[in-house]
Amino acid sequence: MSTSGTYDASGTSDASNTSDTSGTFRIAGDLTVNRLGFGAMHLPTEPAADRANAVAVARRAVELGVTLIDTAHLYGGGANEELLAEALHPYPDDLLITTKVGFTRSPSSGEWRNDGRPDSLRTQVDEALRRLRVERLELLQLHRLDPEVPLPKQLGALRELRSAGKVGRIGLSEVTVAELADAREIVDIASVQNRYNLLDREHEPVLRACEAAGIAFLPWRTVAWGSTGEQETIAAIARELDATPTQISLAWLLHHSPAILPIPGTARLPHLEENVAARRVELPPAHKKRLDRLDPLNHLDRLAENPES
Ligand SMILES: NC(=O)c1ccc[n+]([C@@H]2O[C@H](COP(=O)([O-])OP(=O)(O)OC[C@H]3O[C@@H](n4cnc5c(N)ncnc54)[C@H](OP(=O)(O)O)[C@@H]3O)[C@@H](O)[C@H]2O)c1
Repeated sequence: MSTSGTYDASGTSDASNTSDTSGTFRIAGDLTVNRLGFGAMHLPTEPAADRANAVAVARRAVELGVTLIDTAHLYGGGANEELLAEALHPYPDDLLITTKVGFTRSPSSGEWRNDGRPDSLRTQVDEALRRLRVERLELLQLHRLDPEVPLPKQLGALRELRSAGKVGRIGLSEVTVAELADAREIVDIASVQNRYNLLDREHEPVLRACEAAGIAFLPWRTVAWGSTGEQETIAAIARELDATPTQISLAWLLHHSPAILPIPGTARLPHLEENVAARRVELPPAHKKRLDRLDPLNHLDRLAENPES
């Protein structure tokens, strides 16, 4: 099986038949999703009124053509996974719900801690299968590498889960270029989820490594909590293109690399609709260039000078 992802720029249509120029990405070469996804972390699971709204937001995301939803065991200790199942099961054939394992809550202190022990990963995968009501997690991401557990043990456990048919593809989160390369020596990596947005490009080298290897890059904190409108250039471009600053930030991500699959999160329907509509924002090259220059640490120039950086 080819493990390289591929990008299809031909576009897709959403539920309302409006054009979507952001295209699709085939994760690991065989799992097609619309590139603009949804992060479920902010969906509240209680009280009842908030939960009903959360269910409505998740359903609306799918109606609007979102086919990639991100969750994690960490988000409510599985409560977020349960909420998604309540909202969306039985799932449409083209919907990918990807979850993450690798954090455990201490029964005594209640604190969440990094936990890459194989037994913990196996238990959390079994819990995710039950909570999401599926027989296989098509894409499972390791939430963090655990520095106290040898990498081959952590990834070996996930590889065994894949051989057992419980996991389809394996992804990582918050890794460096070197960690990604080490991991790929052990198992095929289909996705990487790192903090990244228009104004925070520390992980540009990881993005470029993913792009070169055909690995999907799912940035988190994609819309920087909706704060990008405070940045003068972004606000000006938003006015010029008749879009919102958050849409400009998302459109920049979609135009910046074909490997980027943004997963903006919100618990509000109007924000969801605004974010999903960013798929249709065309960013002319001159505007894209102005936004490229907003990187305070100049990562693109530094990469051009030293591709290994
Ligand atoms: N791998 C990891 O370590 C990791 C870490 C954190 C998150 N994640 C994943 O990534 C997803 C996104 O990350 P994130 O939640 O940190 O960052 P984000 O998507 O950049 O920001 C989410 C916040 O922005 C607000 N927001 C969303 N759309 C908006 C809009 N159009 N206008 C104004 N405010 C808006 C939301 O508030 P409202 O609810 O008020 O709209 C929410 O509080 C999460 O849902 C989760 O699935 C992964």
